[in-house]
Amino acid sequence: MKILVTGGLGFIGSHTVVELQNEGFEVVIIDNLSNSSEEVLKGIVAISGKTPIFEKMDLRIKNEVEAFFKKHNDVAGVIHFAASKAVGESVENPLLYYENNINTLVYILQELQQKAEAHFIFSSSCTVYGEAEKMPITEDASIQVAMSPYGNTKQIGEEIITDVAKVTNVNAILLRYFNPMGAHPTAEIGELPIGVPQNLIPFITQTGIGMRKELSVYGNDYSTPDGTCIRDYIHVVDLAKAHVVALQRLLNKKNLSKVETFNLGTGTGSSVLEVITAFEKVSGQKLPYKIVGRRDGDIISAYANTDKANTVLGWKAQSTLEEALASAWKWEQKIRS
Ligand code: WQD
Repeated sequence: MKILVTGGLGFIGSHTVVELQNEGFEVVIIDNLSNSSEEVLKGIVAISGKTPIFEKMDLRIKNEVEAFFKKHNDVAGVIHFAASKAVGESVENPLLYYENNINTLVYILQELQQKAEAHFIFSSSCTVYGEAEKMPITEDASIQVAMSPYGNTKQIGEEIITDVAKVTNVNAILLRYFNPMGAHPTAEIGELPIGVPQNLIPFITQTGIGMRKELSVYGNDYSTPDGTCIRDYIHVVDLAKAHVVALQRLLNKKNLSKVETFNLGTGTGSSVLEVITAFEKVSGQKLPYKIVGRRDGDIISAYANTDKANTVLGWKAQSTLEEALASAWKWEQKIRS
């Protein structure tokens, strides 16, 4: 059975391709290599022993999307990762984000709605909850006004899919990721941030390897036990596996609603200082850091209630924070060696 993975050479996409192939799915990847590299294919093959079909193309070009679906008219499901994801960049250049994240979604759905049946999985984000009132966050927590064009594209994306599913044969699952991190345990694939990482985990591993002098901890005066912000860090392999079970749920159609939403996290919150301590333990070295002022727009705390994913999908994150950090560290050491 052929599954389209857009953005399949990216961080979460590549790990999902591996898990899909391990489960016997045939995969076709679309990627424009804007934030990835064809080298990632080698890592995917090294792990899974299978070569996915790769179509280098840009989903912003509508007639190319049409041509793709004509050529691959046997695509049974779509997992749509391809999107831009840098919050700051989205503030600087909102139209880039609306074009990359919304136009592409519309073009794909226009193709899918012509099919007798279509199964669609969307990469959404816990960012839709903003500063939630209650922890852990359940899927029915209210959606907050988006704090960036990036976050807005995830909210609008969810709305578009919901509207389309109501009146077409498209069934969809919206997956709200908390903080994806780590790398494949083989260190054949992992995260490849461009430039100075804005996210905590790659900044930590780059500091650990000596590429950065020290980590800046953005604020230790928040209303949390140690004063630093709390997040739900989830191993990318656990996240990838959730996509496979979500796809299987769509394909099996048992007790399926037209659109379903799931939080994907571990259910455990970790503070920045706890992450640093865990990193020091797995790497066996001290991490240089200093406390600086708060970062604009940071929310204080966000971690998932994962009951719905646990019961409905039958999925649960397996890796501990330390295991996830160990995989990120192994990957960092490999790519800098
Ligand atoms: C985590 C914590 C920082 C860097 C991102 C995306 C968001 C989303 C989830 C994507 C925070 C602190 C960080 C550093 C630090 N979803 N930190 N020093 O803020 O949850 O957001 O992931 O779809 O859209 O932006 O993750 O990794 O940036 O930060 O102290 O150098 O680490 O303040 O508390 P965040 P992050």
